[in-house]
Amino acid sequence: MGNIENAEIQNGTLVINTTVAKARVMIYSDTIIRVCITRIDKQPDESLAVIRDPQENITYQDFDDTIEVNTSAIKLVINKKPLRFNFFTADGKPLGGDDKRFGTALDGDKVMNYRHLHPNEKFLGLGEKTGNLNRRGLHYVNWNTDAAVHTINDDPLYKTIPFYIGLHSGVCYGLFFDNHHKSYFDFGASTDEQFTWFGADGGDMDYYFFGAQTIAGILKDYTWLTGRMEMPPLWSLGYQQCRWSYMSADEVLGIAHKFREHQIPADAIYCDIDYMDDFKIFTWNKQSFPDPKGMIDQLKAINFKLVTIVDPGIKIEKGYKEYDEGIAKGYFATYPNGQLYTGSVWAGRSHFPNFFNEEVRQWWGNAFAALTDEGVEGFWNDMNEPAAWGQNIPPIVKFGDRYMPEVRNAYGMQMARATQAGTKKILNNKRPFVLTRAAYAGTQRYSAIWTGDNSASDKHMLFGQRLVNSLGLGGFSFIGVDIGGFMGNPTPELMVRWNSLGVYTPMFRNHAAQGMSMREPWEWGEENENIIRKGIEQRYKLLPYIYAGFYQSTQTGMPLSRTLAIDYTWDDNVYDERFQNQFLFGDSLLVAPVISTELTADVYLPAGEWYRFSTGEYFEGGQIVNVPAPLNDLPVFVKAGAIIPMQSLVQSTADDNDGILYVHVWNGANTTEFVNYEDDGITYNNERGEYYKRVIRFEPQDRRVILSAVEGRYQSKYKKIQLVIHGFEDAQNDEQDNSVSTIEFNY
Ligand code: GLC
Repeated sequence: MGNIENAEIQNGTLVINTTVAKARVMIYSDTIIRVCITRIDKQPDESLAVIRDPQENITYQDFDDTIEVNTSAIKLVINKKPLRFNFFTADGKPLGGDDKRFGTALDGDKVMNYRHLHPNEKFLGLGEKTGNLNRRGLHYVNWNTDAAVHTINDDPLYKTIPFYIGLHSGVCYGLFFDNHHKSYFDFGASTDEQFTWFGADGGDMDYYFFGAQTIAGILKDYTWLTGRMEMPPLWSLGYQQCRWSYMSADEVLGIAHKFREHQIPADAIYCDIDYMDDFKIFTWNKQSFPDPKGMIDQLKAINFKLVTIVDPGIKIEKGYKEYDEGIAKGYFATYPNGQLYTGSVWAGRSHFPNFFNEEVRQWWGNAFAALTDEGVEGFWNDMNEPAAWGQNIPPIVKFGDRYMPEVRNAYGMQMARATQAGTKKILNNKRPFVLTRAAYAGTQRYSAIWTGDNSASDKHMLFGQRLVNSLGLGGFSFIGVDIGGFMGNPTPELMVRWNSLGVYTPMFRNHAAQGMSMREPWEWGEENENIIRKGIEQRYKLLPYIYAGFYQSTQTGMPLSRTLAIDYTWDDNVYDERFQNQFLFGDSLLVAPVISTELTADVYLPAGEWYRFSTGEYFEGGQIVNVPAPLNDLPVFVKAGAIIPMQSLVQSTADDNDGILYVHVWNGANTTEFVNYEDDGITYNNERGEYYKRVIRFEPQDRRVILSAVEGRYQSKYKKIQLVIHGFEDAQNDEQDNSVSTIEFNY
């Protein structure tokens, strides 16, 4: 990097010139500092991920050997000879910084940053990555890939979230490398325990350093910077049934009706690629889906929403509207000589829209009228890595001015962006449900995500949970995995077990590949169907808690499914391979995934007090407990002091409940609070004040539960509250839990 030649403030940026490069330092908040190192003549300031601007004021102190930038939380010490960046807490504890010897290197087009590795340093995050919760000793590549039939060790997968959290010596920090070229992260894999490094094949060494001293604080800052999810449509939080593919309108309707006949709650059913005419996006197969509107009306009559898949590839076929328009307007990717790039996907030879162009995004968004006019409200964006058979779109393919190496990792994000913007506009104040497979940092603003083509095995079930937990550390909350496994056929035991985990998965979707056995709940024999039904019923009863959990995600970036590392960061057991898949679902439920062939489980309960959700049994925390884990009772524990609002059983989110909000409170030593949140679950009126928010507070010392005054203008769906108290010795006997008691009053 050379030595610093001069430094000055220009428009709120500290600009540092060395002999070979320019470094710019910007303060985004007291806990967020950006460093961007470029070649001298580059002016980088475009980001697809970041939605905030730096603060206007930055000052620095110039010393003989260093320059210092201070905020109330971070001290950044910049070495002059050679240029190095080192971050400290305000009181001088080292957080993270450049390796003394190597620092940042601009090597040809490549940008690299070599960083000091602290003894016992742990690394978390990077989104959808294989390996353990603690990524120390592992290395990764970001290169969005159609990872069909991946194993639990494959890398890369579908998404690029170049954001990680480091922990050492009682301090923590976050680092977001805002670069969507092919990138690399090494957490001390083969570096002699001396350094870690990250870098990319192109672009700038542009990173944001986060200095908040809790993981929750870092997540709040990261999602402030890159955005948070919107409130999802309530129906998308119910049970979703998918398959590649239900082949006809009759089959779709038959499956939906069967849910109602079998009294298994559900809200969404999917049409995978076969609903289209010859896999042409925005068309319907006239033979098998002759009257889409009629079909969707019938679905609506029994409270089902339809989600349809769209892939980016536009089939080459004269007379096909999207093809003709895309050609006429020059919306597709080309080679440098202007010829169109052709790749093959489901539809055969296809062209690929340039979603990096606003006009193309609008055109794409408007095309959804072909689906929304028939009544579709959910839009599944697939194959957007982008996939093309052979999986190696050449680097000379251009999307506008950008070449493939720069496009790939952000293509899915831009497609989801176009889908969300377009469907939001057409649906006119109704919330669309958007789901995407590929993503870049910040995609949480536009879409839910799922983890792609997993397999029907216990290993994949546990691995899927690790992915959900890790994606939660990357700004995402609305995450699903294919429950039951996409490839292969689960045993009935695995199906039942995976479904019970699905109850506690933010997006609860059952999906399977073509040629696999049918997966619907009634396919597994009566006894198993009953267990699956009970699980799904539990999901619906928990929806008030889940909805409030998503509200929390919209406000603070806290994911619904949380690795225990968020709340119990300094407890080593959390990173133990035996317990690393455990997570908190919302504030207060601890879920321990268990494979289908084991009927007891060792569970680590962190410090505090816990109750088994199903039985009310009490446990001291800070210990490993061995508990029964029969197929009909996944180990789920409630944190002492928990406040969990629930509703009566409904068959879909469109059904009326009994008007009573069941507020379960578990006894505990400390005062706790729960922010209960409601809105219509359908429109964006919540953004204009139409919501109903109340803080429920439990004060055990005074044996009191207090409701705050109502905030917002929405009329609650509940007329009454029933307070259900657990774990109080003098409570009356009720149900099988011998310390439950209830009282009822107006809400
Ligand atoms: C991809 C998707 C999968 C879908 C299939 C057919 O493999 O990941 O979910 O069912 O394509 O569209």
